[in-house]
Amino acid sequence: MSSSWGAVHRWVKPLPSIAFRPSGRLLPTIQSTSPFVISGAASYSKWAFKSVADADQVVVAADGNYGSKQVISVTPRLYDYLLANVREPQILRELREETATMRGSQMQVSPDQAQLLAMLVQILGAQRCIEVGVYTGYSSLAIALVLPEGGCLVACERDAISLEVAKRYYDRAGVSHKIDVKHGLAADTLKSMLHNGEDCSYDFAFVDAEKRMYSDYFELLLQLVRVGGIIVIDNVLWHGKVADPLVNDPKTDSIRNFNKKLMDDERVSISMVPIGDGMTICRKR
Ligand SMILES: C[S@@+](CC[C@H](N)C(=O)[O-])C[C@H]1O[C@@H](n2cnc3c(N)ncnc32)[C@H](O)[C@@H]1O
Repeated sequence: MSSSWGAVHRWVKPLPSIAFRPSGRLLPTIQSTSPFVISGAASYSKWAFKSVADADQVVVAADGNYGSKQVISVTPRLYDYLLANVREPQILRELREETATMRGSQMQVSPDQAQLLAMLVQILGAQRCIEVGVYTGYSSLAIALVLPEGGCLVACERDAISLEVAKRYYDRAGVSHKIDVKHGLAADTLKSMLHNGEDCSYDFAFVDAEKRMYSDYFELLLQLVRVGGIIVIDNVLWHGKVADPLVNDPKTDSIRNFNKKLMDDERVSISMVPIGDGMTICRKR
């Protein structure tokens, strides 16, 4: 039987060990106690708070342009609620808790992001997947847990120390046989996969490594993924910096340019989702 997200592994909820960190991935960008400012969107400012006393409910858009639909922002309280409704397998929870003690722990995807990745893999019926940027393995393990027994995830990572943690958890979860760990620079690995004739043979890819390489990873993955396959890109909202015209550092510019390129790219259908630090789901046409 294939490991299914929730069927084989115990779910833990709520997720009490998640701490909101000032620069961490799990921190919603808006603090309920702080004034809420939307850069470059002055026309929406009147919708920022329902009332000052009720600052935990933040409406970011509710005008006629969107059919007066109230679009809300995730506040700390709401995010707690959302996390309490995530079905996180016990083994992923343990990995998350161990990673929380390590340098760079803010890099791992959040439980709700991991659950969405697993859901996409399942909806797609994916057998062959690629991950670019493994770190200690949280997102790759979430994917591997839902892959069928004959499925395969090529996991690309340059850092040997974090890979040791990932491999320990793959073993513990009983999914090592589904994961082909590629230690090295991800672009080199993807190029050698193409060189080996693996083009159009993958169903799903997740990109979560060097931000300034996103465009290169995307072009390589677009060749490796089949028509109808999916490429998910992480950090596309980059802590909100992409929407702030005053921020022009190289990483922000790079992600902003990449987002624009995707917007104009007719080779894929796209959906930018405000989950975690923002993920864009691309489907190859
Ligand atoms: C954001 S973390 C990945 C987090 C992971 N997806 C998770 O959920 O735990 C990014 C990882 O990409 C790796 N990385 C960065 N540049 C890379 C490259 N050029 N080739 C391979 N791995 C790279 C880093 O070492 C780091 O572990």
